[in-house]
Amino acid sequence: AEGQLALTPAMGWNSWNVFGRAVSDSLARAAADAMVAKGLADHGWTYVNLDDGWERSAREQDPLYEGPVRAPDGTMLTNKKFPDMKALGDYIHAKGLKFGIYSGPGPTTCQRLEASWQHELQDFRTFAGWGVDYLKYDWCGYSSVLAPGETNQQLAVLKRPYQVGRTALNQVPRDIVYSLCQYGWGNVWEWGAEPGIEGNSWRTTGDITDTWESMAGIGFRQVGNSKYASPGHWNDPDMLVIGKVGWGPRLRDSRLTPNEQYVHITLWTLLASPLLLGNDLTQMDDFELNLVTNDEVLAVHQDALGKAADRVARDGELEVWARPLADGSLAVGLFNRDEMDMPVTVKWSDLGITGKRVARDLWRQKDLGTFDGQLSRVVPRHGTVFVKLSAR
Ligand code: GLA
Repeated sequence: AEGQLALTPAMGWNSWNVFGRAVSDSLARAAADAMVAKGLADHGWTYVNLDDGWERSAREQDPLYEGPVRAPDGTMLTNKKFPDMKALGDYIHAKGLKFGIYSGPGPTTCQRLEASWQHELQDFRTFAGWGVDYLKYDWCGYSSVLAPGETNQQLAVLKRPYQVGRTALNQVPRDIVYSLCQYGWGNVWEWGAEPGIEGNSWRTTGDITDTWESMAGIGFRQVGNSKYASPGHWNDPDMLVIGKVGWGPRLRDSRLTPNEQYVHITLWTLLASPLLLGNDLTQMDDFELNLVTNDEVLAVHQDALGKAADRVARDGELEVWARPLADGSLAVGLFNRDEMDMPVTVKWSDLGITGKRVARDLWRQKDLGTFDGQLSRVVPRHGTVFVKLSAR
């Protein structure tokens, strides 16, 4: 069954960028409620994913220390913010949504909370019993269990925990999307899909933050990665940083400007990356909702051909990225990374096409007319124009 999962990239929400360690059962339920109530579910948003922060810590000085991290039989225990994980899974499923969780192949996670080392199969059975549909599996902590002479420069070492994880996952009678999180050492994208690992996605970068430098730096650096993406196997340049982030009293607007947020969604759509909202779904304003419910944009993201975009042209701070679609058309992003509004041109020769094309502006959902040979638009500073080019 693992070959049939995530045939288009996942769409959902992850707790990390907004709640961090403070994630709780009630915050996850509120996210699920909002995903339905705000209409996101009707546009394809599905996964409600817990990140780090649901587990216990074995270290007494950690606020998430609550005595043993596992039951006497080895079953992993949740911290008191999650009184009943099965009930949470049921709640999410009852809304027609899917449930995701986070662990790692090391003894502890990035937050030094309990992880699945030497309990892989037991933990994945526990997760399946809770109704988990998606597992983000984060390398952090695995570096501490390497044998003498092993380093995280060695390909076999980098692959090993993800092979162990895949073997365990295949023994669990439930379809669980396998999201590999490893960055900083090897090139996980080169092997994340190989037999014996079969990751449904893999991180291609370190952690994103809600600044133009971080988001654009990560996004535009994905040049050349399209060849690693295919149905069921996606590059993951990390989660979305639009909307309101920073929990509770620290809740604030993303530092990305509106145009920068258009760039973020356009680029991740073209890259066929998982779209995992990292904001407070209960606090979305009209702009943010429009940004994530544009069906013409989301149709590109979910396109059945499953090809990712690559950069087809670059002129200084101006870039053009194109993604081939199942109906033979092309989704094309014109990007302006410069500090002032600039005309950006896409030439048919860069796209490998000839003849007339009808252009549709996907964000504005408006036809722009018929073009022959090239198309030029003025693109705002740190902004984008996202078009679809069709033969008729
Ligand atoms: C790493 C990952 C993040 C998040 C945190 C949680 O930094 O890259 O996405 O999961 O761990 O501790």
